[in-house]
Amino acid sequence: MHISIKNISEAMCACDALILPFTEGSPGLYDSLGPSSARLIRRVFRKEFSGKQKTVICIPAPDELGAGRLVLVGLGKKKEISSEKVRQSGGKTADALRFTGLKKIALSTAFLSSFNISPAEFVEGFLLGLYSFDKYLAKKDKKVIDTFVLLSRETESLKAEIFWKKTIASSVWFVRDLVNTPANDMTPTHLAQQALSLKKPHLSVKILEKSDATKLGMGAYLSVARGSKEPPKFIILEYRGAKGDPLVLIGKSVTFDSGGLSLKPPDGMERMKDDMAGGATVLGVLKVVSELGLPIRLIGILPATENLPGGSATRPGDVVRSVNGKTIEIINTDAEGRLVLSDALGFAQRYNPRAIIDIATLTGACSIALGSEAIAMMGNDSRLMDKLKKAGEKAYERVWEMPLYSEYKDYLKSDIADIKNYGGRNGSLIASAYFLYEFAGKVPWVHLDIAGTAWLEKEKPYIPKGASGIGVRLLLNFIKES
Ligand code: BES
Ligand code: MN
Ligand code: ZN
Repeated sequence: MHISIKNISEAMCACDALILPFTEGSPGLYDSLGPSSARLIRRVFRKEFSGKQKTVICIPAPDELGAGRLVLVGLGKKKEISSEKVRQSGGKTADALRFTGLKKIALSTAFLSSFNISPAEFVEGFLLGLYSFDKYLAKKDKKVIDTFVLLSRETESLKAEIFWKKTIASSVWFVRDLVNTPANDMTPTHLAQQALSLKKPHLSVKILEKSDATKLGMGAYLSVARGSKEPPKFIILEYRGAKGDPLVLIGKSVTFDSGGLSLKPPDGMERMKDDMAGGATVLGVLKVVSELGLPIRLIGILPATENLPGGSATRPGDVVRSVNGKTIEIINTDAEGRLVLSDALGFAQRYNPRAIIDIATLTGACSIALGSEAIAMMGNDSRLMDKLKKAGEKAYERVWEMPLYSEYKDYLKSDIADIKNYGGRNGSLIASAYFLYEFAGKVPWVHLDIAGTAWLEKEKPYIPKGASGIGVRLLLNFIKES
């Protein structure tokens, strides 16, 4: 979809549909369009439309306008308007228009600007809301919207904002595609190829094979891969947009989590193709950062593997040694995320990072605690966590801190090894993070559990059912501000 900015009047704009945002109970906002339009809009306001948030109606436009249709979009109460509500309206509008066959869409921006809200927010919601996953369908919908015009004065800042939103939205689409792709196609090898496809002059990609990981002593990571015939791939991306110590992002990349010998029940197991969502998010962030050429040194690490049962699978009770020398007793092979992440955290130390953020679909308990409304956050550095909280509010990918009390250490005491990977159901959201804490070393570190938010059973205004692509916008806001 091509996006442009044009400084022409709403009435003159020749397009298939003209989007007009309204707050509740304000039918007169666009009276200057012309007498027939004013009458028509007032009539609609008496009947089927009130400006309520997340409502959209599409009606034929009167002849006095260049537009074929008018799309009235509700922003809700004037006092409660916010960037997020505008994004949500953008998403709802995309929903309403996507299958209509209308090709050229225009947006009236003056009303949004009068609230100091950038029309780029609407565009962001619109683009994110247009996503669908049809790779595996024989019949794909061909009715695509090809042009989106913002009716506004063209300023450098608006142009830059639109470019930023477009780049981000296409990366969120990329992440959703990766996560929605079934695990028979989305193997560690395929994920590695996807990472390699992002290569750029300032972005190098390196894949460590099983033999490399063995030499490095990544016993925890490799213990997860043992049950699968798919070779594990330890993926490293390095972006050099600045000098100095890097920020390291680690994404859980279990391409399918059956639980291993501690096999999961069949109900809902198909969803476990999303267990590489953290890794996909890290790829999405690196994609944007490299495309926009942001001034940062950034490393991405994706310890990719499948978790399957098999003749040589790891058994409960096995003891493995991680890259930093600590031994781990594996109580439950379904607590595999922390195993692969512990070796990634250990490995990351060699970069002398200024901070590490890991992002992972780590625990069922996360989704029980917070549902799909917030990312659970734990870490060893409150400044870093405060920044992430702010970035989360801004992106509306909100994070909620859980307490990482030292008492949780006891949950993971093993009788025969330095630590065990599972301490029972109670407090398991936090205990899983405490396990990671033991491997983060002295580096400022934050863990983000996206088990409740990476996959939606029910759609949200600009997030369809399935993979949400959460984390990309959060981390980019974080990077932008820091
Ligand atoms: N990948 C799962 C966590 C998960 C569960 C993500 C549901 C999304 C939805 C993780 O590896 C896991 O299996 N966690 C278990 C561990 C436990 C059974 C040892 C959990 O938290 O239930
Ligand atoms: Mn698991
Ligand atoms: Zn898992």
